[in-house]
Amino acid sequence: MFSRLFGRKKRESEEEDNSDAVRDYSFLGADMHSHFIPGIDDGAQTIDDSITMLKAMQDMGYKGVVTTPHINFDHYPNSSSKILAGLQQVHHTLKEKDMDIAVKAAAEYYIDDHFFQILEREPLLTIYQDQVLVEISMASQPSNLFEIMFNIQLKGYKPVLAHPERYLYFRENRQIFTDLKDRGCMLQLNTLSLAGYYGGDVKDMALFILENKLYDYAGTDMHHMRHAELLQRFTQGKTFLKLQKYAFRNKDLIA
Ligand SMILES: [Fe+2]
Repeated sequence: MFSRLFGRKKRESEEEDNSDAVRDYSFLGADMHSHFIPGIDDGAQTIDDSITMLKAMQDMGYKGVVTTPHINFDHYPNSSSKILAGLQQVHHTLKEKDMDIAVKAAAEYYIDDHFFQILEREPLLTIYQDQVLVEISMASQPSNLFEIMFNIQLKGYKPVLAHPERYLYFRENRQIFTDLKDRGCMLQLNTLSLAGYYGGDVKDMALFILENKLYDYAGTDMHHMRHAELLQRFTQGKTFLKLQKYAFRNKDLIA
């Protein structure tokens, strides 16, 4: 009995030992959710912040990022042109500093009335091909969620729902993740969720979605260097191995 237990213990620890793949995020290639354009949302406030965070991304093994400032009428009523102007500033400074990281920009669209006005009137910024990153209210589930996703698709886009694990009102309705996927909506994990940054319930939902293989992308959703520091530390833990084993689509972004 003891030897069997010890035997199992040994195998487990061997499993850990065998998994000394590089402990960084290079397996993802690129990131697709972050707030690196200076001064237009609650992410980078200055160009120095942007560069410091992009340097941290490089150090963590990322070759490129698609950064996604908020477009949210109540708090950050940004426009495509404002985001792209900020991107130019970032490109200019990266060149000055001779930093080799590919940076593109899209947006994290908050689903409100303003979003549907933009959807009617102009092209959206996409993270890749026709894929649009969207977020919904943290406070309460939109009553017509499937209709919202369908309307985005009708306009020729594929919705990618940001951090589904953070919408705690889905806790008692986890079937919704499969239903969303069946309706053509993609799902994006915040790596910080797995690292425990938003608490145990969010981590638990993230593990559930990951174990059911429903995620498409992993994103940092980095706003500041405290996020970078936690993401760095997370590479040393056991849960990181689950992330590394998962077949995310991030590599498409820099293919
Ligand atoms: Fe975000």
